[in-house]
Amino acid sequence: MPTPALSLQHVSEFAADVRESLTKPGQRELPSKYLYDEVGSALFEAICVLPEYGLTRADTRLLKEYSAEIVGRLPSPLRVAELGSGSGKKTRWILEALSRRQITYYYPIEISPHALAALEKELAQIDMVSVVGYEQPYLEGLRSVAEGRGDRDHVLVLFLGSTIGNFDREAGDLFLRDVRATLRPGDALLLGTDLEKAVELQLLAYDDPAGVTAAFNLNVLARINRELGADFDLASFRHEARWNYADRRIEMHLRSTCRQSACIPAANLRIVLNEDETIWTESSHKYKAEEIPEMAERAGFRCDAQWIDEEWPFAQNLLLAE
Ligand code: AVI
Repeated sequence: MPTPALSLQHVSEFAADVRESLTKPGQRELPSKYLYDEVGSALFEAICVLPEYGLTRADTRLLKEYSAEIVGRLPSPLRVAELGSGSGKKTRWILEALSRRQITYYYPIEISPHALAALEKELAQIDMVSVVGYEQPYLEGLRSVAEGRGDRDHVLVLFLGSTIGNFDREAGDLFLRDVRATLRPGDALLLGTDLEKAVELQLLAYDDPAGVTAAFNLNVLARINRELGADFDLASFRHEARWNYADRRIEMHLRSTCRQSACIPAANLRIVLNEDETIWTESSHKYKAEEIPEMAERAGFRCDAQWIDEEWPFAQNLLLAE
């Protein structure tokens, strides 16, 4: 089946990013954002229901249990913006709690049009909630929401699912500072963070026996084949999840099982990979509960409250803009 038409701008940006990250001296890399095309997003949804990946269930349990309390700590009227909206199943709890006290405006911010369409469908039936999607990068979308509000409106930003963990720690700090810069005192950020747990559990969560995470990881090469005309032989790569003790993060790699070459015509690139050489595709940093208030302060927030799931250590952190 032919691939749907892709814009020239998309192809040239993707090709430039692939070229730059695969030809870096030392460790080869691919940016993790390219894991999420339509296939990758569907595989990620499947990961979220795997028994080994407790993160999404913990995130959802906390929201289900504490949404009323979270919303009760925040001023009215409140508009809700979400960075990377996903399927909206978790967000429903916050929106339902808020819609009991006011008409709620919800702005999912997401670069994937598929995800936005699915979300609008999922949330459209909640009474008193108006959904307006922004197909933009996070900070751009957030600026639009913050600038478009009325003088009395406050903004609650949702950044759930420990997506912050996919940034390097320094980049995560910088991102929180950029989020803070779009907000006014009294606005808030609800930040979901996966906490450190036994290494075997963490490794299983990112290398499940059914091979769903392996398929998710390998799909980035399949995507490069589909969209950039490359000829990666997927059977000659193996998915690998590692725990990096120094940086307290899971790393996903694709290990080449033999010496091989691959051509990526749209990037004007041919690479040779040695046997056992890896391409690093994603990092998922894990946190200690007590480091979140410090991160918040460095970015100009105060951590007002923290809720921790007992079954799968995970924290929802309510950060107030000071
Ligand atoms: C989206 N993000 C928070 C997920 C994570 O856990 O880092 C992505 C993921 N990668 C492999 N499994 C899940």
